Amino acid sequence: MFEFLLILVGLSWILVFRYRRRNMYRMAVAIPAPDETIPLIGVAHKLMGSTEEIMSSLQRYSYDAIKHNGIVTMWLFHLLYFGRNIPVFGHVQNIGIDVAVFKQAACDVFYERLTKVIQSKREEFHMEKISKDLEVDTHYDLGSHKSKTFLDLLITFSGDEKGYTNVELREEMLTLTVAGTDTSAVGIGFTLELLAKYPKIQENIFQELYGIFGGSERALVKEDLEKMKYLERVVKESLRLFPPVPFIIRKVLEDTRLPSGNVLPAGSGIFVSIWGIHRDPKYWGPEAEHFDPDRFLPQRFNVEHPCCYMPFSSGPRNCLGYQYAMISMKASLSAILRRYKVVGEPEKGPVPRIRVKVDIMMKSVDGCQVALERRPTKL
Ligand code: HEM
Repeated sequence: MFEFLLILVGLSWILVFRYRRRNMYRMAVAIPAPDETIPLIGVAHKLMGSTEEIMSSLQRYSYDAIKHNGIVTMWLFHLLYFGRNIPVFGHVQNIGIDVAVFKQAACDVFYERLTKVIQSKREEFHMEKISKDLEVDTHYDLGSHKSKTFLDLLITFSGDEKGYTNVELREEMLTLTVAGTDTSAVGIGFTLELLAKYPKIQENIFQELYGIFGGSERALVKEDLEKMKYLERVVKESLRLFPPVPFIIRKVLEDTRLPSGNVLPAGSGIFVSIWGIHRDPKYWGPEAEHFDPDRFLPQRFNVEHPCCYMPFSSGPRNCLGYQYAMISMKASLSAILRRYKVVGEPEKGPVPRIRVKVDIMMKSVDGCQVALERRPTKL
């Protein structure tokens, strides 16, 4: 009896495996990919090695896709992917690769700490220490919540004891902590490195900031941020050339026809290269790789599709914190740059050379190799 069951399970497994393989071959032939560029089977091994080597492979696929009308076929692990540089979103869905990575990366200490914080917050709520002043008329009235923490608000708005469980609270906190801190820090790091490489551009920022603050030490106010137009262009250009999240992954839910005529078959995965889209001469011109903040001047910024520029992704699962990220990056950079000169090895040409690796997000291999030199308070 046991042997019979074993044979049955084995046979079913072979059938399912064969069916999935056949299905993948069917999907694979849907996109013509030049064999010499990317062998259809076996690119997974190219995504091994150091984090820098993995990033180099991903960059190579992006450049290959640029050469082939924005698309190449890739077979990663047991799944078929189409590497895309084409900035069009169709019937596609987020898939949880990032969540898996988070889980691996989030160490027990972090989990434990969050759990403790949530438990003590629950106790505080229970003892009605803070719940009285958290009563609100509507779900959207933040009136009395202004000074409350994100965790306070999550507990209250989700319905306190009847709302999010401790595990759900932990997941939300973890997502926000990882998605909302390192990303902006990496963006600031790349921007500082670029400014050390291009002192003239840094000087333009300093002049703008001097126009706003003079030599004063006064604190930044909201209105100052709106005046930092040049700094904003620099941050945007830095996020274009060095997007902290260089790739996103989606699952194709329905056959999706691309402008090129290619159809992405339902069931396949797509690997959208933000890195590649941002460096594709088709959208950014022959000088796509140049560091040129003024390409974001309103009179020059003329990309043909909103997805040509997507450091914060695009569509229904785009970044929830993109406005906050822009504000925090401008605030932090202005605090540094109005007081300090960022010094490093100046770049010889307009194309910045920074070695990058993929380490949950994209990071500079050598870290942020810059020095800060105090500026005189009076010009
Ligand atoms: C330079 C800074 C940032 C960059 C480049 C960035 C980039 C991104 C990208 C590309 C995604 C989409 C991932 C995908 O489509 O698979 C994303 C999602 C997300 N980001 Fe950001 N982000 C930044 C800062 C922030 C900040 C400051 C916050 C919160 C305060 C935040 C919160 C989130 C959340 C919650 C999601 C998930 C949205 C969802 O899955 O529906 N991000 N971010």
